[in-house]
Amino acid sequence: MIILSIETSCDETAISVIKATGGAKKPSFSILANNVASQIKLHAQYGGVFPMMAKREHAKNITPLLAKTLTEAKMLKKSKKGAVVPARTQKKISDLLAREEGLADAIQAKLFPLTAPKIDMIAVTIGPGLEPALWVGLNFAKALSLLWGIPLMPINHMEGHVVSALLKPKQAAHGLGAQTINTISFPALALLISGGHTELALVRDWGAYALIGQTKDDAAGEAFDKVARMLDLPYPGGPALSKLAAQAKGNHDFSFPRPMLGTDDFDFSFSGLKTAVLYHIQKKDTLSDSDKIAIAREFQDAVTEVLVKKTFKAVAKHKVKTLLLGGGVAANTHIRNEIEKKRDTDFPDLKLYFPRPDLSTDNALMIGIAAYFRSLKKKRLPSLSSLKAQGNLKLS
Ligand code: KG4
Ligand code: ZN
Repeated sequence: MIILSIETSCDETAISVIKATGGAKKPSFSILANNVASQIKLHAQYGGVFPMMAKREHAKNITPLLAKTLTEAKMLKKSKKGAVVPARTQKKISDLLAREEGLADAIQAKLFPLTAPKIDMIAVTIGPGLEPALWVGLNFAKALSLLWGIPLMPINHMEGHVVSALLKPKQAAHGLGAQTINTISFPALALLISGGHTELALVRDWGAYALIGQTKDDAAGEAFDKVARMLDLPYPGGPALSKLAAQAKGNHDFSFPRPMLGTDDFDFSFSGLKTAVLYHIQKKDTLSDSDKIAIAREFQDAVTEVLVKKTFKAVAKHKVKTLLLGGGVAANTHIRNEIEKKRDTDFPDLKLYFPRPDLSTDNALMIGIAAYFRSLKKKRLPSLSSLKAQGNLKLS
């Protein structure tokens, strides 16, 4: 099955084409093309992501990115007959894209003259995320589905992060071609830590998820970003803050709270921790470099301790055989090391997989992989008109 996947939930426009075979027991994936257009540099100037700016950038970048992706997959072929899109389809597409600035024109110019590529399914992220951004990807995918007569599969972004640790590190520098797959034993647990989410999801099988814990306020990545800003670090704050924390040498004489460490649920809370950092900074007249390093270290330790404790409590309770990490914060070296240490000492039989760096942040490959597993369930696909972007979509 050849799957074209599209992701626009936040500040990356991402498109990939994969060939998937083997079924749920022995899945195998070959990457035909994989591209990400990041908006991070633009948003960094303003210290965060503005949804309407993200929407405009997605609308501008998505058609050229698709053309690049189809070229890479050797699927971009000009129709010899010229543009032969029926008038009714043209009208449907332009109505559909009425609110996506410039997109209908770009599709008409770049995609109408092509022959339909040999793709079996289009997969698109419908949530959770920034709704204006999600709509661009969804409407674009609907337009392609109409244009080429290819079925459209809606995908939950978090399901993408769940499956992102399935692929082993890149075998080829360009990242294309057949992928080696990690062996997953069920039940598995996914710790999903990103800018918008902090969740523990039990994975009984591919496509069968139960959310057993989540943050009651800020996400882990959001807390990293906010504390980084208090320390005058650039956006996104996570990588910069963890670099600073790594410079810490000795001990420091203060501590931040470990919110909800001892509660007997699997939920998290990071807003109070962020406020504790703010009060600590406000009590000081100036912040020296060594103050900043100590704050970064103590904050990262606090987040890590809560994540590790709650995650392994869930591993024990649900007799989990595989632990998967996903999301931008899963790139954090300290968090990875502490999770690995705990596995080695207390759960040596637990399989543990981290996503490779390019798959910890947002990408379209994970959306294509999730769509393959969904397609194996052979449920009827929803009609195009019933599909809506859902900013708060929950994993199920
Ligand atoms: O998954 P992602 O790319 O986007 C969302 O879906 O949110 O995650 C982005 C988040 C940002 O908050 C960023 O600061 C954080 O991941 N992040 C990190 C690290 N790298 C990225 N946080 C801590 N340590 C890192 N090394
Ligand atoms: Zn994400």
